[in-house]
Amino acid sequence: MCGIVGYLGEKGATQTVLNSLKRLEYRGYDSSGISCFLNGEIITEKRAGKISVLESAMDKDVMNGATVAIGHTRWATHGEPSDFNAHPHLDCTGSLAVIHNGIVENYSDLKKILEKEGHKFRSETDTESVVHLIEHYHREDDILDAVIKALDHVEGTYGLVAFSVKSPHRLVAARKGSPLVLGVGDGEMILASDASAIVEHTRDVLYLEDGEVVDLTQNEYKLYDLNKNHIQRSLESIDWDLDAIGKHGYDHFMLKEIFEQPETLSNAFRGRLLLDDVDVRLDGLEFLNSEIEKINRIIFVGCGTSWHAGLVAEYLMEEYAGIPVEVEYASEFRYRNPILKKNDLVITISQSGETADTLAALREAKSQGVRVVGITNVVGSTIARESDGGVYLHAGPEIGVASTKAFTSQITVALLIALMFARRRSVKFDEGKSILENLLSLPKAVNSVLSQCEKIKQIAEIYSENHNFLYLGRGINYPVALEGALKLKEISYIHAEGYPAAEMKHGPIALIDEQMPVVFIATRDEIYNKVVSNMEEVRARKGKIIAIATEGDEEIQNYADHVIYIPDIHRSLVPILAAIPLQLLAYHIAVLRKCDVDQPRNLAKSVTVE
Ligand code: F6R
Repeated sequence: MCGIVGYLGEKGATQTVLNSLKRLEYRGYDSSGISCFLNGEIITEKRAGKISVLESAMDKDVMNGATVAIGHTRWATHGEPSDFNAHPHLDCTGSLAVIHNGIVENYSDLKKILEKEGHKFRSETDTESVVHLIEHYHREDDILDAVIKALDHVEGTYGLVAFSVKSPHRLVAARKGSPLVLGVGDGEMILASDASAIVEHTRDVLYLEDGEVVDLTQNEYKLYDLNKNHIQRSLESIDWDLDAIGKHGYDHFMLKEIFEQPETLSNAFRGRLLLDDVDVRLDGLEFLNSEIEKINRIIFVGCGTSWHAGLVAEYLMEEYAGIPVEVEYASEFRYRNPILKKNDLVITISQSGETADTLAALREAKSQGVRVVGITNVVGSTIARESDGGVYLHAGPEIGVASTKAFTSQITVALLIALMFARRRSVKFDEGKSILENLLSLPKAVNSVLSQCEKIKQIAEIYSENHNFLYLGRGINYPVALEGALKLKEISYIHAEGYPAAEMKHGPIALIDEQMPVVFIATRDEIYNKVVSNMEEVRARKGKIIAIATEGDEEIQNYADHVIYIPDIHRSLVPILAAIPLQLLAYHIAVLRKCDVDQPRNLAKSVTVE
């Protein structure tokens, strides 16, 4: 939610910030802006719309000489997307500029006080209250002290960067609740909301923790807490390269990420399977080893797609490890006084590792003394760092706003955890060997699904103008139906609902007519015949059926208008294969409807506000 960048160095500060903002555009893209310091003053350009609009508006000849600049790409919370509300925001005299990601909850109280003191507000944003507050202290204090003093009054979350004409070769940045990474280069410093905007410059990074402030010059950084105590921490190294965040000839990041799945799924299990022992090794969960036997209940928490992965995980964990599971929306979990007990385990699922609701749920669980494990993709993310232990997806950066490869990797990792727990709880584990063997063949099976991309596009052509879709599945495929519907609605803006297939007759069946495409996940399993009955019910009402079915199932063609086959695989892995045609279907429909696939309206990749 909002991307922020700050740069100090000789490589053309404005252009560097602009390039980095483009890498962060997935975080928010309704407006953007840049401020730089040149010839004794702050020059600012900001525009509603995408970064390309800002780029065209910028007088690069003027701005390019700067050695210090900050920039912001916005996902609006307070105030509509407009030139005025875009960041950076300036103080009354135009000599202090601030960018901010997060929410200032007490901004209206601060604004009232500051207006009484004569400060002039120009935007409707919560951020501007912080700018004037820093201005207030900066009259007497150095920029670092002014920021620290101002933040003492701020309730809410922030990742922010400030600079001032009084000390123009410094940037001061602070973090509470919104991610901020510092890249330490050779004669340059770059701050950003995530490492994708930094990796081009350096691999040496410092992830700021909540309550930390960093004071930067081109060659030096000093890290403090909010009481100005010095903090020493070593730099970490980014272990992926720029290549991972390119489109590689694909029209969209989403398509590239869908096609990466054979590899990302291999990465999720590589080095983790102990085939001879029919076991799984997850280093990040070693700390739990002596406690696994005692776990009474697991609660998966996540949002959106990650919550759907949690629903699949529920089936896997209950079935293989025999542990009762609950799956909660992180946003609900936190606000309903969850009753947690000593032997409960909370597992958070989050691609970004920064989702505010999931993080809040994690903290709630920890505050009740319960162990928390994180399934995350972004290495070094807040959830990864604050969890007691965890498992990374190793899926590489996911740039498309709609989550695809992360979903299938989340399921894979959840399966590995279920298998590891099963082994350590002495439950009956006859299927273990077969699951591990099937996992090894998963990438090949995914390739076979991907090879049907063109066929799926043809189906998309038939239904791209429809206004509603229904997605139905049962058992472990029910969450896949939910995920298929979410993918379609978020990128194509078509209304879509996911339902357990058997629930259809309790209400949604009223929606079915010849205008309603119904996507069934109808793979061969113990409830196949029941799903076929549900298909019959749809056909009887003239609904159009797209079935995801198991290779070799000829019979299904009698019930469906279109069939997309997935290879026959162990049932624990079916949700992974079944999700992929749904990702492709949503993708093609969105492209046909000329939607902005990678940056759908109103969305942002990383939701760091509650
Ligand atoms: C949907 C999507 C979102 C995210 C959700 C949680 O395609 O991407 O629903 O799944 O915002 O994000 P993470 O997994 O980063 O916590």
